[in-house]
Amino acid sequence: MRVLVTGGAGFIGSNFVHRTLATRPDAEVTVLDALTYAGSTTSLDGVLDRVAFVEGDVADAAAVDPLVARSDVVVHFAAESHNDNSLTDPTPFVRTNLVGTFTMLEAVRRHDVRYHHISTDEVYGDLELDDPERFTEDTPYAPSSPYSATKAGSDHLVRAWVRSFGVRATLSNCSNNYGPRQHVEKFIPRQVTNVLDGQRPKLYGDGLNVRDWIHVDDHNDALWTILEHGRIGHTYLVGADGEMNNVDVIRLVLELMGQDPEAFDHVTDRAGHDRRYAIEAGRLRQELGWAPRYGTFRDGLAATIDWYRENEAWWRPVKEATEAKYALTQQVLT
Ligand code: NAD
Ligand code: DAU
Repeated sequence: MRVLVTGGAGFIGSNFVHRTLATRPDAEVTVLDALTYAGSTTSLDGVLDRVAFVEGDVADAAAVDPLVARSDVVVHFAAESHNDNSLTDPTPFVRTNLVGTFTMLEAVRRHDVRYHHISTDEVYGDLELDDPERFTEDTPYAPSSPYSATKAGSDHLVRAWVRSFGVRATLSNCSNNYGPRQHVEKFIPRQVTNVLDGQRPKLYGDGLNVRDWIHVDDHNDALWTILEHGRIGHTYLVGADGEMNNVDVIRLVLELMGQDPEAFDHVTDRAGHDRRYAIEAGRLRQELGWAPRYGTFRDGLAATIDWYRENEAWWRPVKEATEAKYALTQQVLT
């Protein structure tokens, strides 16, 4: 099977490529990635000689078309993915997430290629902390940030291309991923690398915001389940019942790294900060038989901390610039 992976030099995409090559000997993988600040070929170390790597933009139809033409399936990860950046400058979010998805859809339509669209639970907005409901495939869209609004728009494009043009597409909306090769701008890698650098973790607001954590390998296994067994036109929510609030995550990181669990800073909160995300993944579990296999969040987090400890060469080149960017908008409050 010839698989085109967009965004395959980023966090989830690169883990997808590693896992695909490890578990599917019949897969021929091509990666299309623009190598923005968030992408690096070092995330493909160890497999780069087994993939066709193309540096290019998903919003560039001339670059996209020939790659789609020679693929059996497209797995579209490429996106601007960080909420904080979308508040500073939404411009690349509109281009990559909306125009890029439109460009991919037009190419798969032209060549009648199976397409899977990677999206996020953030399209549903947020929940109150005490809401007994969780997100399902029927929850109305209510995105809060420029990032989540562009992802919501891209989901709508996919559904319109399925209905209007018969494109053979599935969609998935996943909760917060953690694991190796995640950019140090994101919550968990930022705190882990801060501690490794002798700096204190940084908590936004009161820290009671809840995220629903899933290991990236469980997400990627779900994607293969959907690619092989998903129903065309259907959306699948992906989550592993991993709700935890941010202050508890920071305390766990500190504990696992042998530090005082209270040794963190409160910093300026994110504008419009979503309170809680929570996924009900019943359709994926019951219809397609998927289940997360990674084990407890504590074990997965400990393994992730080890990965950052052992792979400083991967994250060190971008750490200083990432913290310098945060320093422009965030102040330590306590
Ligand atoms: P990431 O920021 O780590 O990686 C994005 C990749 O896309 C990078 O390699 C970057 O170079 C590439 N890219 C960006 N713009 C591009 C363009 N115009 N053309 C080609 N390549 C481009 O992101 P991630 O966390 O791996 O997220 C991947 C996908 O999963 C995104 O669609 C995101 O919305 C979705 N998602 C992420 C999470 C999460 O927790 N990280 C959860 C649910 C869904
Ligand atoms: O829910 C899925 C989404 O998860 C994906 O669609 C996004 O691509 C991905 O970035 C992630 O979005 P979040 O905004 O939830 O992730 P982030 O890692 O930026 O932040 C997680 C939580 O931690 C959030 O409540 C903000 C908080 N936070 C974040 C940072 C970077 C802190 O308290 N301190 C920090 O330093």
